[in-house]
Amino acid sequence: MNIGVFDSGLGGLTIFKSLLENLPEYNYIYLGDNARVPYGNRSQEIIYQFTKEAIDFLFKQNCQLIILACNTATSTSLHKIQQEYLPKFYPDRRVLGVIKPVTEKITDRNFKKIGVIGTKATINSGAFTREIKKTLPDALILQQSCPLLVPYIEDSGRNDKVLQLILKEYLAGLKKENIDSLVLACTHYEIIKKEIQREIGPQVEVISEGKIVADKLRSYLTKHLDIEKKLEKKKQRTYFVTDLSQDFKKLMRLFLGSHANEASIKQIKIDNG
Ligand code: DGL
Repeated sequence: MNIGVFDSGLGGLTIFKSLLENLPEYNYIYLGDNARVPYGNRSQEIIYQFTKEAIDFLFKQNCQLIILACNTATSTSLHKIQQEYLPKFYPDRRVLGVIKPVTEKITDRNFKKIGVIGTKATINSGAFTREIKKTLPDALILQQSCPLLVPYIEDSGRNDKVLQLILKEYLAGLKKENIDSLVLACTHYEIIKKEIQREIGPQVEVISEGKIVADKLRSYLTKHLDIEKKLEKKKQRTYFVTDLSQDFKKLMRLFLGSHANEASIKQIKIDNG
């Protein structure tokens, strides 16, 4: 069986890249719902609906385990998927997200003033704050949504002056508070990590998710040998998108670097409409 990786679009390839680099032996199926990206400005109900459709599709592709490589889908939908949807429809399959691995890392480091940036839906869900507070109840968590960053990063005509202005505006409040760490709670932000670090200052530890999620998956599989044993290890990679838009090749190269293999992408329909 395969490991499925789902994102609202192609940004999840930043996390997928880390999985390929750190756990290359498994068979992976990536699904990007790029016809309906961004999810970040949508309601929780719609994101949950879209996420369920993606999960159904990936389970039909023989996935034993799915990683929601999307902060927006994880923060709005993972809990309900794990508590309600899986027990009812797929009791022997698993879905994991990106929040727990990152918040566990933060707990290990015992940060005190933690900034979190992400899409509107991620920030409004309060999921990162809730999860961090479980283990670091005294930590101060400051959240900031950055809705302009995803379209900026996906736009082909990137302009560094514009980015500087946007970051200055979004990070000003966090900077004033002297945070000690900043979580990049969005798949895309990894691409502009250097610029974010420059704006927030060298004293702040900027935390991106890829490697942390890969390490966590490794330890999960070590602890759950019943699942691990079902996974095929033939290094097969299959990519599904919901729109073979003009930009997908460029974005695939941007997010996946040298692992990009555009030839193996198929377009599919996952909605029931
Ligand atoms: N993948 C989303 C995330 O990590 C960003 C793009 C979107 O808004 O759908 O939050």
